Amino acid sequence: MFNFTYYTPTKVVFGRGAEERTGALVKEQGREKVLIHYGGGSVVRSGLLDRIKASLDKAGVAHIELGGVVPNPRLSLVYQGIELSRREGVDFILAVGGGSVIDSAKAIAYGLAEEADVWELYDHTRQAKACLPVGAVLTIAAAGSEMSNSSVITKDEGGVKRGYNNDICRPKFAVMNPELTATLPPYQTASGCVDILMHTMERYFTPNGTMELTDSLAEGLMRTVMKNAVALRDDPADYDARAEVMWASSLSHNGLTGCGSDGGDWACHGLEHEMGGMFDVTHGAGLAAVWGSWARYVYRDCLDRFVKFTVNVMGVEDTGAPEDIALKGIEAMEDFYRSIHMPTCFSELGIAPTQEQLETMAKMCIVAGGGKKGTAKVLYEADCLKIYEMANH
Ligand code: NZQ
Ligand code: ZN
Repeated sequence: MFNFTYYTPTKVVFGRGAEERTGALVKEQGREKVLIHYGGGSVVRSGLLDRIKASLDKAGVAHIELGGVVPNPRLSLVYQGIELSRREGVDFILAVGGGSVIDSAKAIAYGLAEEADVWELYDHTRQAKACLPVGAVLTIAAAGSEMSNSSVITKDEGGVKRGYNNDICRPKFAVMNPELTATLPPYQTASGCVDILMHTMERYFTPNGTMELTDSLAEGLMRTVMKNAVALRDDPADYDARAEVMWASSLSHNGLTGCGSDGGDWACHGLEHEMGGMFDVTHGAGLAAVWGSWARYVYRDCLDRFVKFTVNVMGVEDTGAPEDIALKGIEAMEDFYRSIHMPTCFSELGIAPTQEQLETMAKMCIVAGGGKKGTAKVLYEADCLKIYEMANH
């Protein structure tokens, strides 16, 4: 195992009615004026936005609002949010929505704290020294941004999707009422479950640095998410299943399932971010569509971990050659994805990249990774291209 720092400063308020405490939570932060940031309208239709505003009013906290965040959130709206907040003297950003809204809120918070262009962070040409405080009222269990140190933004020109990680953007609080996710379309619920799984799988499939306790937590989390993803496919109103995946979304990406490892593989996320940037696909579905091809390309280089995953997570019997066991695990995972109506290749995802587009994505993936990607098997541009080609049917 490797040394690690585990830092989770986010106060979690979980359960039915939790959103009623939002105003008091902002007040606790000693803040005066809030930008309420939200997406394309689901929080307006559900009445959540009005309830949040009422909660802020009750706590005596002034607020303005900016909606319009789209999935794969855009830099242009971040700039608008920075300008508006600066003009209005905003000192706290409240995200009401999913990963896209929270990531956009984090980007606005970075942009407000320093004069320089916020895109430089995502372009990795400088590090942030400051960030305004952010809070989150979560409406979809998926990205884990409500507790993570990460923010992913897409630059409008050229569809360049890039992430920036820094502990200073971790939300001060996360309000999580599983009931708020009941209005999600089934496709978003399932995509969210894939993303939650993948945040732990990215950390699990690495040959470098493992811990028995971390593995047990990771395996338990993965089994729980799969079981409850199926439960939600069959009954979207199942509160307990919604609660299980919502809590898993946070624990899967707050660092817990990576303690002691080298940080994880993250190749699938790198591969998907290019697909999201170029084709605007839903993040979790994009991960499902590329995972099987990645796994088949790398499993021999990380065989022990694939065997362990197959037996402990997928429940496949430990008989036969390790290669065969690993392949059975990959097949079982793809069967699971299909069972919750998630894609396992590009045509099922609804995209048909040309060879030139595959080559562009492979090149950009490696540029974003700083020259290489992954630890299960270290990937270079030609490897990424091969994986995209394997998925492109
Ligand atoms: O915009 P609205 O109208 O709210 O609709 C959203 C959106 O269309 C809808 N939705 C959300 N909650 C709902 C709802 N519809 C009905 N009822 C509700 N309760 O769902 C759609 C997807 O929302 P989005 O915020 O995009 O989902 P998600 O949480 O999956 O976030 C995806 C983004 O997060 C990034 C992804 O790359 C992607 O850009 N990620 C962020 C990470 C992080 N910051 O730590 C890590 C992840 O790996 C990921 O990369
Ligand atoms: Zn993700």
